[in-house]
Amino acid sequence: MGRFQGSTVLISGGARGQGAVEARLIVAEGGCVLLTDILDAEGEALAAELGPAARFLHHDVTEEAGWARAVSAAEALGPLRGLVNNAGIYIPKTLMETDAALFERHTRINQLGCFLGMQAVVPAMERAGHGSIVNISSTAGLRGSPGAIAYSATKWALRGMTKAAAIDLAPRGIRVNSVHPGPIDTEMLKIRTPEENAVRTRLVPMQRNGTAEEVAKLVLFLLSEDSSYMTGAELAIDGGASL
Ligand SMILES: NC(=O)c1ccc[n+]([C@@H]2O[C@H](COP(=O)([O-])OP(=O)(O)OC[C@H]3O[C@@H](n4cnc5c(N)ncnc54)[C@H](O)[C@@H]3O)[C@@H](O)[C@H]2O)c1
Repeated sequence: MGRFQGSTVLISGGARGQGAVEARLIVAEGGCVLLTDILDAEGEALAAELGPAARFLHHDVTEEAGWARAVSAAEALGPLRGLVNNAGIYIPKTLMETDAALFERHTRINQLGCFLGMQAVVPAMERAGHGSIVNISSTAGLRGSPGAIAYSATKWALRGMTKAAAIDLAPRGIRVNSVHPGPIDTEMLKIRTPEENAVRTRLVPMQRNGTAEEVAKLVLFLLSEDSSYMTGAELAIDGGASL
């Protein structure tokens, strides 16, 4: 019997990249997934590929009412025991290049979206008996990150929000942890040129980028009962990049 048998996990931004790999692994371990994203074609195609254990719902994480719809759709698949706050944007600009609109856009998607998600799943997770929330931060939330002030602000915020929520939700049987990936080969990195990315990869002690599969395995550990005594933890998965 798989670790996720009888449980549903809601993955925001799950149409592609890390979230999509997490969905595949959860279904392979007997669970159900509710995928949300603004990329409808990719999300629908992934849900169709995964079969009856998966469903896709269009949802922009900044829309509060949409979170209630997503939770209902997840519960229709089975008891909601997991949330991955995975949706995010990365538009790297230095302090002097960043205008208020760009700063606010990062804040709304990466930070407010995570807040709304954590709040929305709590009653459903209580109904399910217990739950685990994984907030996808970044190494940009562990140290200063060059040329990405707005992104860094939100990823540091997720780290703090994770710890505050972990304390608030422990009495309700809900654990909250943050994951801090280094450079991971997904569409997100394509905002930089291959040459720029190569320079960044050379700064990683392990001299390579990570894969979405490597991050997904850690996320599944945190979602599962294998990590039953962990809450408020911040786990780097970065080839040593944050050292
Ligand atoms: N790739 C990396 O190097 C890296 C490193 C550290 C952290 N991360 C974080 O990992 C997470 C997943 O990113 P990824 O690497 O899979 O990249 P990705 O760009 O493939 O995935 C991000 C997903 O979020 C979705 N999204 C964006 N705005 C949204 C919104 N308003 N509402 C709903 N969905 C929205 C996108 O459509 C996309 O499917 C992100 O939070 C990202 O910040 C990525």
